[in-house]
Amino acid sequence: MAHIVGFAGSFSSPSRTRALVQAAVDDAAQRTGLEGLVFDLGDLGPSLGTAQHLFDLANGARDLVLSLLDADAIVIGSPVYKGSYTGLFKHLFDLIEPEALRGKPTLLTATGGGHRHALVIEHQLRPLFGFFEANVVPTGVYAASSDLQDGRIASPDIATRLEGAVSQLVAAIAPAKEAARPRSAAA
Ligand SMILES: Cc1cc2nc3c(=O)[nH]c(=O)nc-3n(C[C@H](O)[C@H](O)[C@H](O)COP(=O)(O)O)c2cc1C
Repeated sequence: MAHIVGFAGSFSSPSRTRALVQAAVDDAAQRTGLEGLVFDLGDLGPSLGTAQHLFDLANGARDLVLSLLDADAIVIGSPVYKGSYTGLFKHLFDLIEPEALRGKPTLLTATGGGHRHALVIEHQLRPLFGFFEANVVPTGVYAASSDLQDGRIASPDIATRLEGAVSQLVAAIAPAKEAARPRSAAA
């Protein structure tokens, strides 16, 4: 079972957003020794577009979403489309029960063409994960096109910011696991 799961709300291949999410998941997995998994909208396939419930998704797609819900920590990313997350990114989260991500250690990321919409994390993504009562770490990571090249982080500033954000995510994992343990097991 993957314990640190990343989701990128992009169809592109290659995807800058997926590259950013992958870098965060790889770092978190390496630091914790936990298994990492990353998927994107392309991996979910066409059943997402018409699904009204999680059980309407094709089996493979549903398994990926369930891995996100079961994860010890998640890394979320979306490209900016018209100043916000993509439409199908939101549609996926529309299928998820309000309590399913409660307390989940969560790192938010986004990519855009430039820096004009760098606050998409604060103005769009953070409120959505506030609705879910996820445990969102304070630092979000936004990268413009020029910050990512050939699937790698080309900007030292972004790399440093991501490193700090992953530290916050890793620090949030142990307390969340402890809080989720049954009381009898904790005694
Ligand atoms: C339909 C569409 C709308 C976009 N709107 C914006 C936007 O409002 N602001 C912005 O900075 N970039 C915008 N972009 C650029 C993408 O956010 C940017 O190229 C992103 O890094 C792509 O990520 P991906 O490679 O993971 O798909 C848009 C791109 C597309 C295709």
